[in-house]
Amino acid sequence: MSKYYKIVKDNIKSLRERCLPVDPIDQKTIDLVNAMKDYLIASQDPTVNEKYHLREGVGLAAPQIGHNIRALVVYYKQVDNEGKEVIIDHRLINPKIISESIKLCYLQGGEGCLSVDDEHQGYIYRKNKIIVKAFDVALGKENIFTAYGYEAVVLQHEIDHLDGILFYDHIDKKDPFKIIDGSVRL
Ligand code: NI
Repeated sequence: MSKYYKIVKDNIKSLRERCLPVDPIDQKTIDLVNAMKDYLIASQDPTVNEKYHLREGVGLAAPQIGHNIRALVVYYKQVDNEGKEVIIDHRLINPKIISESIKLCYLQGGEGCLSVDDEHQGYIYRKNKIIVKAFDVALGKENIFTAYGYEAVVLQHEIDHLDGILFYDHIDKKDPFKIIDGSVRL
């Protein structure tokens, strides 16, 4: 079973720092990334998260558990068009967005973050499509993949953490619910 990490909150300076690339990619880092996935799974399990007072999360970046390295995990289940359950499981080291759409999207409910306890209301515009290059722990090698919509939003939120950026940095303080023409509401 994974450790129940103490999550680094947004009042801690280290969360605002740029994280270092992982080089070389060693077993210790791979083990850490796998444990981060276990943490997310535990956070989504009602019996476990209640017992350990975990907030439910779909993504976690290494700086949120006190490791300022470029590694992240995205893990959640969704139902596809045919009603089949699909697991989204990204365990990435040194992720980089190598291409992105002009089209933007946003979550109508706004974003949340395990490191942020205060409420920050407003829309966060993200690219609706991204192409990511990373060392993929599930594959054991470097990989390039495309993500759209919600999956792309979560990945961009986690990649931001590696540069010390938090979701509310993107909210337009003067007009937090501004609608950008042509953007996709999710
Ligand atoms: Ni976050």
